[in-house]
Amino acid sequence: MAQTLMFAASTLLSTLFARPAFSMLPLDFANLLTDLLGGVTIDVVHLLGLLAGFWAASTSPTFSHDVAPILYRQCASCHRPAGVAPFSLLTYQDAAKRSRLIATVTAKRYMPPWLPVEPHFQRERRLSDQEIATLAHWADAGALAGNPAETAPPPQFPDGWQLGKPDLEVEMRAPYTVPAEGPDQYRCFVIPTPPGRDRWVRAMDTRPGDAKVVHHALLFQDLSGTARKRDTGSGYSCFGTPGFLPARGLGGWTPGSVPVRKADGIPDLLHGGADLVLQVHYHPTGKPETDRTRVALYFTDQGPTRKASDLPLGSNQIDIPPGEQHYKVSDHFTLPVDVEVLAINPHAHYLCRDMLAYAVLPDGSRKTLLHIAEWNFDWQQEYDYISPIRLPEGARVEMEFTYDNSAANPRNPNHPPKRVVLGPGSTDEMAGLHLGIVPVDADDADELAQALWGKMMRQLRRGGR
Ligand code: HEC
Repeated sequence: MAQTLMFAASTLLSTLFARPAFSMLPLDFANLLTDLLGGVTIDVVHLLGLLAGFWAASTSPTFSHDVAPILYRQCASCHRPAGVAPFSLLTYQDAAKRSRLIATVTAKRYMPPWLPVEPHFQRERRLSDQEIATLAHWADAGALAGNPAETAPPPQFPDGWQLGKPDLEVEMRAPYTVPAEGPDQYRCFVIPTPPGRDRWVRAMDTRPGDAKVVHHALLFQDLSGTARKRDTGSGYSCFGTPGFLPARGLGGWTPGSVPVRKADGIPDLLHGGADLVLQVHYHPTGKPETDRTRVALYFTDQGPTRKASDLPLGSNQIDIPPGEQHYKVSDHFTLPVDVEVLAINPHAHYLCRDMLAYAVLPDGSRKTLLHIAEWNFDWQQEYDYISPIRLPEGARVEMEFTYDNSAANPRNPNHPPKRVVLGPGSTDEMAGLHLGIVPVDADDADELAQALWGKMMRQLRRGGR
């Protein structure tokens, strides 16, 4: 009798509820069954409890089947032994004891760290709504293990260079020790390169000496000799920018990133006499850590077949009163020729919250180039569009950054808030947005260059950069 009942009830249950949601199961249902069964003396509630367990086990997400693939793809690059995150999430035990916290931080989209809300970019670290729901279900149903034999092998993080033997491999001149505690450090290290001719760089890669303490790293080249004077052996402190101009960037590294490959036909120029300058953001781990980051460069003999330009938007007129919650900085540039936008790179310090970049097309419509709703200085990077964005002559590219200098901004470095103006320090502010653009017709390169030059001169006259 009990068996038949169990079968009937379970069939009923699975037809009634296609998707599990235990909290909405059922006292009413128990009453319904009791009514249906009339006088049969059986502990229906107890039976339902048994059924619930059986049913949960058969339909709830499990680590092996549902959760591990998400964690391996979207979390493991940082949450692994010797990764930048404070704990690993590779094994069932690691993940299960934090299942609630995982559900919470993913629902808020605090993890994985990924700032743009719009549009989509290459190598996006962003969970789908479905993945977030799976992690929530998993936590709600008690973080089930599932069948370990089903778990896919965890991802490997090879020590070698992913692109093979580099043409030039260099490292910091000496190991650098980051103290156990204290604020984050931004440190620039000069890496002398062997004397030689100009080279075209087609790809670069970075290998932190200690990925626990290296939060991110950016590579620049300095032709001015400034960095060389400042670095007496153990680097120099350089929050925000590396402290020389022009700071010609060659690429960067954030945890989980792949080697940087330059767009087809647009290699970067590495000047013969330049010093490489590596800017590293260190985040103390609670123990003293020693880092010696290495960089690999891959050259090509093929010079550029297309000319990429930097379209810089921004302002030097930053003066934010204390308490001001919606201080806006804006800038714009009207394109003199048709272009393709390949990448976008925003920069501000701690007070900035909202970053918006868009193009107003000649027909009046708007195309979003970047929207970050909650800027976080810790996770800055360049974003590459999935495919180049084509903008016609006459389109106006606009940027608008909003700063919150009130005590309500949890990232405000000043307590109480104070007046903040432009500057390179961590308690100063900046507003910069760089777009990597290429004229659609190569013959338009000079016209574009002239217009960009004109913009720079106007800004200088206004007391800007
Ligand atoms: C790019 C690196 C990176 C990726 C990818 C990443 N995390 Fe993290 N995670 C961190 C760092 C660094 C911290 C510690 C600092 C912090 O809380 O911001 C952290 C902290 C956490 C915390 C603790 C938060 C707290 O409040 O204590 C949880 C939980 C977490 N991550 C879960 C995840 C999950 C789940 C994923 C994948 C869906 C993920 N993370 C992806 C770097 C990463």
